[in-house]
Amino acid sequence: MLIMPDLVMTVVRILGCLAGGWLPASFHEKLASEAVRGWQNFRDVIGPGLPRNHELYRQLSQKHAGALNDAFFHYQKRLFEAEGNFELAMSPDFETSTPPPDANSSWPDMNALPEYKKLRKIVERLSRRYLTRSGLAPESAMALNYSLFNWAAVHGPGEFHGPHTHVGEYHVGVFYAQAGDGAGKLRFGDPRGHSPPFGRSFFHSPRSGDLVFFPSWLSHMATVTAPQTNPTSGESPPLRVVFSFNIGPVQGPMPCHVWWSDPTGDMRFSRKLAFNPETLGL
Ligand SMILES: *[C@@H]1O[C@H](CO)[C@@H](O)[C@H](O)[C@H]1NC(C)=O
Ligand SMILES: *[C@@H]1O[C@H](CO)[C@@H](O)[C@H](O)[C@H]1NC(C)=O
Repeated sequence: MLIMPDLVMTVVRILGCLAGGWLPASFHEKLASEAVRGWQNFRDVIGPGLPRNHELYRQLSQKHAGALNDAFFHYQKRLFEAEGNFELAMSPDFETSTPPPDANSSWPDMNALPEYKKLRKIVERLSRRYLTRSGLAPESAMALNYSLFNWAAVHGPGEFHGPHTHVGEYHVGVFYAQAGDGAGKLRFGDPRGHSPPFGRSFFHSPRSGDLVFFPSWLSHMATVTAPQTNPTSGESPPLRVVFSFNIGPVQGPMPCHVWWSDPTGDMRFSRKLAFNPETLGL
């Protein structure tokens, strides 16, 4: 059985009405509605208005189900690297860089949302804690300068995001801004491989307001959302809205030839538990 201890995956409940949460539901609701607005604006206005030879236009025109979210991802990556400067982000070529964690990092209305700034701050503050709790030496965790890249993904009925990892980052996170009953699950794959007796999965059933941290090497996927309409009510399920976070080196994710220097490779997790030889019959 695949064991996924608390220290491999940590769920922080941000929403007040869930155990351990401290923020009101308006926190994730505002983030979800701005993400959906920005996604629709990209799909309906920005994308179609791009020059035909623009890289984002080409990504948007790909003939596969994930084309819109792929292009939306790259649009947000540009905005992040351009520190929220829309004109710069959309110019065909600009010098990419990783801005400091407190710089603007998304489209203007998202940057203006206090809840968005707060979400980034929460992730920034909890990252070192997560890495330390996972076994990174506190001095190493404190010495890390990291880049905090996040992007929103909006999934309609019957959509999913296939298995992948983010090796080269320090760790990753997902914030569920909107996750109803039909939102699918976050599925983690068995890091020991696909063949029996391994090949197990661990499923997290997300709720709005969950923030989940896990190691960059852990294979994960967003399972399929509920189909178009509910046969009994005839209603479409709400969109699944997530903010994904890559927390990694300032220079960007480590390329494979420098993985040997990845500080997360030095994680050591040990537990001290005394035992009584008599109760073990020794
Ligand atoms: C960051 O974004 C906000 C909201 O769009 C804007 O008011 C502010 O001027 C931006 N800051 C910088 C440094 O561009
Ligand atoms: C982090 O940034 C500071 C200030 O720029 C620098 O002195 C330090 O060496 C950096 N640490 C690492 C691990 O890159």
